Amino acid sequence: MFNLILFGPPGSGKGTQSEKLIARYGLKHLSTGDLLRSEIANQTPLGLEAKKLMDQGQLVPDEVVIGMIRSALAANPAAKGFLFDGFPRTKAQSEALDALLTTYNAAINVVLALKVSEEELVKRLLNRGLTSGRSDDTKEDVIRARIAEYHAKTSAVADYYAQFGKVVMIEGEGNVEEIFGLLCSAIDAKKAA
Ligand code: AP5
Ligand code: MG
Repeated sequence: MFNLILFGPPGSGKGTQSEKLIARYGLKHLSTGDLLRSEIANQTPLGLEAKKLMDQGQLVPDEVVIGMIRSALAANPAAKGFLFDGFPRTKAQSEALDALLTTYNAAINVVLALKVSEEELVKRLLNRGLTSGRSDDTKEDVIRARIAEYHAKTSAVADYYAQFGKVVMIEGEGNVEEIFGLLCSAIDAKKAA
């Protein structure tokens, strides 16, 4: 299995680049944000609880997303590998993911970290909010709260994986195709190593 984490702040292009990467490398895309939005669309109790936090730009509890990832791994026994998007988002989620993957005799091979300035993030998300229907994209204060949550809790994920030498920083501003090229080069280098 080849497992990668596409890491970065809200609006850094994780979803955009994930679609292209799974097509190129045949990985299974696991986005906890997408899984949570599907729970909301289905009006499940989990979705209704999560929505309150998501609408304020706050993270949902670790146990909730770890449970979703545990189920998704179990549901895809034939996967060649997974692309994790928006997960893990805390050090506790990182440790839980590593423990889960160990039970499959697997590990995270690489963490690709997209670097984008805060002003560019806010601009992209406000722009997407015009059409996305995502309630967490329409208000600038909620977008800024999501970015603050990223600095407070999620940036620790990069520090966690850096201690194992697994993090590659990728310039995330500019042309989508060029950024995709940088991501592919980093993956190919890791696969060849
Ligand atoms: P989630 O769905 O993961 O959202 P996010 O991390 O806030 O990031 P986005 O999906 O908004 O951005 P993205 O990096 O995917 O960028 P995109 O490609 O869309 O999480 C939502 C919420 O769910 C969280 O706030 C939290 O409450 C909860 N949650 C989810 N996972 C959780 C977890 N593990 N633990 C706890 N809570 C969790 O691009 C953004 C925009 O920019 C698009 O319009 C795109 O077209 C545009 N764009 C992309 N690339 C470029 C480029 N190169 N140049 C110009 N524009 C670009
Ligand atoms: Mg996304």
